[in-house]
Amino acid sequence: MRPSDQPLITSAQIRTRVEQLAKQLDEDYVDHDPILIPVLKGALHFASDLSRALRVPVEIDFVRVRSYAGTQSSGSVEFLVTPTISLRDRHVIIVEDILDTGRTAAEILRRFQDDHPASLKFCTLLDKPSGRLVELKADYVGFEIDDHFVVGYGLDYEEAYRDLPDVRILIED
Ligand code: IMP
Ligand code: MG
Repeated sequence: MRPSDQPLITSAQIRTRVEQLAKQLDEDYVDHDPILIPVLKGALHFASDLSRALRVPVEIDFVRVRSYAGTQSSGSVEFLVTPTISLRDRHVIIVEDILDTGRTAAEILRRFQDDHPASLKFCTLLDKPSGRLVELKADYVGFEIDDHFVVGYGLDYEEAYRDLPDVRILIED
C-alpha cells in the first residue's frame, strides 16, 4: 500500500480551509479563551496550524485514545492520555484528524462531558459521513470526503505517512 501520486487535498487547500475555520472560531469564541484538545497523534499538524491561525488566545492540552479494532462492541476506547488542565466551566474544542464511524468522538465527548465544561464542541479536519455508525455531527468540518482511506497531514497507515504535507488516498502498489 502507498499514497497516491496526486493529493486528494493539497497543502494550499488545507491552508485556505484552516484560515477559514480559524476565522469562524474567532467569531464564535470571542472572549471565551477556549481550550483546544487535539486527539493524538493524527490531529498534530491540524491543531498546530489551527492554533496559530486563531486570534483568540487558546490553551492547549491533549487526549490520546486507543480503539480496539478487534472487538465489535461499541465504546471500546481506552484513554492513554487525558488533559491535565481542568475542563470545568471552560469552553472546550476537541480537534480531530478524521471522523469516520464516530465511535472515538462519541467516547471522547462522553468522557469530557463528565468534567462539566461550559461548552464542548468537535472540530475535525476530515469527515467521512458514509462511515458513520453512531449518530454524530461535527460542529466544525474542514473537508467532507468520500469513503476512502486517506493518509498524510497527520493521518497514518500503520504509523507511516503522518509527515506528508497533504492528504492522499492510500492505494495498492
Ligand atoms: P472512528 O471512531 O471510526 O470515527 O475513528 C476515527 C479514527 O480512525 C481517526 O481518528 C483515525 O485515527 C482513524 N481513521 C479513520 N479513517 C481513517 C483514514 O482514512 N485514514 C487514517 N486514519 C483513519
Ligand atoms: Mg486519530
